[in-house]
Amino acid sequence: MNSFALETDKVSFAYPDGFVALKEIVFRVKRGEFVAMLASNGSGKTTLIKVLAGLLVPQSGSVKVDGQPLREYSQAALYQRLGLVFQNPNDQLFGATVAEDVAFGPRNLGLPEQEVQCRVAEALLAVGAEELAARAIHHLSFGQQKRVAIAGVLAMKPAILILDEPTAGLDPAGEHSMLRLLGSLNREQGITIVLATHSVDTLPLFADRIYLLNRGRVLKEGPSEEVFRDHELIESASLRLPYVSRLLHELKRFHGVPIEGLPLTLGEAREQLLKLIPDEVILPVIKEGGL
Ligand SMILES: Nc1ncnc2c1ncn2[C@@H]1O[C@H](COP(=O)(O)OP(=O)(O)O)[C@@H](O)[C@H]1O
Ligand SMILES: [Mg+2]
Repeated sequence: MNSFALETDKVSFAYPDGFVALKEIVFRVKRGEFVAMLASNGSGKTTLIKVLAGLLVPQSGSVKVDGQPLREYSQAALYQRLGLVFQNPNDQLFGATVAEDVAFGPRNLGLPEQEVQCRVAEALLAVGAEELAARAIHHLSFGQQKRVAIAGVLAMKPAILILDEPTAGLDPAGEHSMLRLLGSLNREQGITIVLATHSVDTLPLFADRIYLLNRGRVLKEGPSEEVFRDHELIESASLRLPYVSRLLHELKRFHGVPIEGLPLTLGEAREQLLKLIPDEVILPVIKEGGL
């Protein structure tokens, strides 16, 4: 068995009206990786996610999950391997209470009630929503609904989690904490994470690898630094650099500030800028506990 959790080979997909939304997509995710599909709206992210989850069947190319062709999976077997979190939690949540909703999947698997309750508690704990168990779904905030939708999928104990725009509609703090949550599911529980997003600022902190998509094609694939290094390509995909990278890039380009490479995160930028400040300026500040 190879080490890919997900693997598509030259997948093309056209909608019934003839619109070709995916063109020969080669998309590979190793077990345990955290991979992002990065693209502006209308580029084919949701379509690719539906193909990966078996909700749409491509006209050509192959899709494998854990090295096995997708079509060989029964729906029940697939959904224990691969959990899909939709963009809009309303498409996913239908229980009266949070606990009822999260229990739906494991109960459907026919698990004993004690195991169901155990999974519900575990999943709610994993997303930091244990105190919401008795709440009515329709009383939750959007961010809480997103977390509960993830808990419902985690209760199935999937090895792979695919999330369509998990940070869309969240405020900046919510976006950061959502990515932190996904990062910890990835690192601490070993869950393979694939997410679609068009948000560039926090992503480089979390994703091991990025697939840059545009108009149904993969424009580039690689670690964040490699993908963002090509500014023109990023712009041609109707995206922008993370703000911090753009600032440092401009300092370098217009003011000759000697910045090495392209810092993508606040931490990297801070390190680079601190290097440029002479010791006699910075040492007294450090002594006074300023840094
Ligand atoms: N049911 C459909 N019929 C025809 N075209 C569609 C349908 N759904 C999506 N599309 C088109 O496919 C392209 C990709 O859409 P989508 O996968 O939703 O992109 P994204 O998730 O990146 O915003 C868009 O141009 C969209 O208009
Ligand atoms: Mg979409």
